[in-house]
Amino acid sequence: MERNINTILVTGGAGFIGSHVLRLLVNKYPKKQFVNLDTLTYAGNLENIKDIASLPNYHFEKADIRDVAELGKLFDKYQFDGVIHLAAESHVDRSIENPLAFVETNVIGTVNLLNAAKNLWKDDFSNKLFYHISTDEVYGSLGKTGLFTEETAYDPHSPYSASKAASDHFVRSYFDTYDMPTIISNCSNNYGPNQFPEKLIPLFINNIKNNKSLPVYGDGQYTRDWLYVIDHARAIDLIFSKGELGETYNIGGFNEYTNIDLIHLLCDLMDKKLGREKGSSRKLIKFVKDRPGHDKRYAIDAQKINKELGWKPSVNFEQGLSETLDWYLANETWLHNITSGSYKDYYKEMYKERT
Ligand code: NAD
Ligand code: DAU
Repeated sequence: MERNINTILVTGGAGFIGSHVLRLLVNKYPKKQFVNLDTLTYAGNLENIKDIASLPNYHFEKADIRDVAELGKLFDKYQFDGVIHLAAESHVDRSIENPLAFVETNVIGTVNLLNAAKNLWKDDFSNKLFYHISTDEVYGSLGKTGLFTEETAYDPHSPYSASKAASDHFVRSYFDTYDMPTIISNCSNNYGPNQFPEKLIPLFINNIKNNKSLPVYGDGQYTRDWLYVIDHARAIDLIFSKGELGETYNIGGFNEYTNIDLIHLLCDLMDKKLGREKGSSRKLIKFVKDRPGHDKRYAIDAQKINKELGWKPSVNFEQGLSETLDWYLANETWLHNITSGSYKDYYKEMYKERT
C-alpha cells in the first residue's frame, strides 16, 4: 500500500465484497490495522471472514452507519486515517419493496460517515482518504452498443441505483466543498464465493441444487458485465493505494453476457458437477414477470484503471464460474445456515407473483 495510511475503517466487511476486500488487505498488510464496521443485516455474515477473525491486525465492531453517536465514538477510539466504504443495502428487488431503507443506509449512512471523517480530520487532510465503493447502475441503461465511461452522465432507474447515485454525489461534494480527499469507484456485477443467494448466480445455484424452478425475469435478454469478486478486491486495493484524489474509476470484467446465455452456461456446468443428465437443469427455467424499471444493459469501459493503475481482470469467466459453483457445492453448511430461516419468507414474498 503506497499511501501512508495505517488505521483503516472498512464498512460492510461481513458482506459479500467487503469480506473479500478484508481478506486481501488484512493478509497483505500485517502492519496496518483494519476495523470492520458492520451492523450484520440479513446480508452480513461473520462466517464470511472467520479465517481472518483472529489475526492481530483485524478488529470487528458491530455498529450501524445510521447511528451518528456510535460512529463518533468509533472514529474517536481508533483515529482512522482511511475509510473504505462498502456498507449498503445492495439488492435491487428489495429496493423496489422498501426504498426508504436504501435512503437511510446508502444516502444518510454515507453522509454520516463523511461527517465523522471530516470531524476527526478537521482540516488536516494529509495522509487521509475516504474511498467510496459504488456501482455501474448509477449510469442507467445502455442500448445495444456503447460502454459506461467515467464521464457518462448519471441516470439511475431503481431506488437502489438512485440511492447509490445520491451517495456518490455527496462524496464528490465533500471533495469539491471541503477539499476532503475522496475517491469513488463504480463496478459492474460481481460474482464468486459468499454472495447472498438473492442475487442471480447464487440464487440459481441454490435452486438447481434443490430442483426448484429458475425464475428468469422478462425475456432474459438483459445484459450484465460479470467480474470475479477477487478481481474487484484487487482493484480496490490498487485504487486505495495509488488512485488520484477526487477521481472516479470504473471497474468491469470486459465480460458481457445476456442473462439467458449465462443461465444456460450455469445449468450445463451444474449438470456436470452434480452428475445429472445433460439438459436437466435447463428444464427448471421459467420465464416470469419482469422486474419493474429493469435496466436493459450494463457494460463498463475499464480502460482508465487499466492505463493509469495497470489493473485488469485476472480470472476467465468460465473458470471463475466453475470455481464459484464448486465453492457453493462444497460449502453446504454456509448455504444452509442462510437459507433455512427468514430467507424462506423473503423468497415466498419476493417470488409470490413470479413462480
Ligand atoms: P452485501 O449486501 O453482500 O453486503 C453489505 C454489507 O453491509 C452487509 O454485511 C451488511 O450487514 C452491511 N450493512 C448494511 N447496512 C448497514 C448499516 N446500516 N450499517 C452497517 N453495515 C451495514 O453487499 P455487496 O454485494 O458486498 O456490496 C458491497 C458494496 O459494493 C455496496 O456498496 C454495493 O452497492 C457495491 N457494489 C456491489 C456490486 C455487486 O455486484 N454485488 C457491484 C458494484 C458495487
Ligand atoms: O451492476 C452492479 C450491480 O449488480 C450491483 O450494484 C448490485 O448491488 C448487484 O445486486 C447487481 O445488480 P443486478 O440487479 O444486476 O443483479 P441481480 O443479481 O439482482 O440480477 C442480475 C440480472 O438477473 C438482472 O438482469 C435481473 C436478473 N434476475 C435476477 C434475479 C434475482 C433474474 O432474471 N431472476 C432473478 O431471480
